[in-house]
Amino acid sequence: MERIEPCLEASLPCETHYVLLIGPPGSGKGTQSAQLCATLRLPHLASGDLLREHVQRGTVLGRKARSHMDRGDLVPDDVVIDMVMDRLGSGDCVSGALFDGFPRTLAQAAALDRALATSGRRVGLVLYIEVPDAVLAERLGGRFLCRACGASYHVVFHPPRRPGLCDCDDGELYQRDDDRPDTLARRLNVYRELTVPLIDYYRRHGVLVTIDGNQPIATVTTQLYAELSRVFSNRTEQRVARR
Ligand code: AP5
Repeated sequence: MERIEPCLEASLPCETHYVLLIGPPGSGKGTQSAQLCATLRLPHLASGDLLREHVQRGTVLGRKARSHMDRGDLVPDDVVIDMVMDRLGSGDCVSGALFDGFPRTLAQAAALDRALATSGRRVGLVLYIEVPDAVLAERLGGRFLCRACGASYHVVFHPPRRPGLCDCDDGELYQRDDDRPDTLARRLNVYRELTVPLIDYYRRHGVLVTIDGNQPIATVTTQLYAELSRVFSNRTEQRVARR
């Protein structure tokens, strides 16, 4: 993957940056987060990855989550909120994080707002990646993920350099069980019912930007960087002007 906009790095660490990526399954949240987090040096807080780690380790939380995930349903709010808040409390998230797949319900959004507000922080930008349903099935049907680092590939749109192996760490690539067509249909229904209301919620808070995700991966990345640069540079400039 190419690296884009390294100049943005310099403008980020001077204030807190909590950025959310929201979008339907297969919209490219994981693909784009990997790129953004590496360049911006923001911690990547992906609720799906955290849940899959618990399932893999066979923890109590993982056992609670598994059946919901296998059906394509959301894991109950209390379970996910505790798990994400625990991660948010880690030292590396104190001045920012990129959330991928969280929040997914209005209750989760409210919990995140409350947690950040306790120390005067807030969500600064919500990047909504919009992709038509017809495209999502094709993307998820051809998706492969790295077992070691979670990097996302596609047989056609983003193939690894060596078949079956991750470009970053040589990890084995696998297909997710919940990418089957029947489970995907359920995930899309759940997304429409429980997650789409967040679009309005964040629009009303004045932090939502919509990105056309039905474009080549590198084009989407460039547009995401442009929005990050615009929002956070503006805010930095306003603070400097007020001094
Ligand atoms: P999660 O892991 O978060 O899955 P998801 O939101 O359904 O999203 P995906 O990971 O499927 O897609 P993505 O948008 O990351 O796409 P990607 O970049 O891989 O959640 C899984 C489950 O965990 C949920 O169903 C739920 O049960 C539970 N869960 C998680 N969070 C929860 C929460 N907060 N509350 C409750 N439950 C929760 O891209 C897809 C493919 O397309 C890849 O192959 C990629 O290479 C390709 N691609 C990406 N962008 C492009 C492009 N622009 N052009 C062409 N191909 C592209």
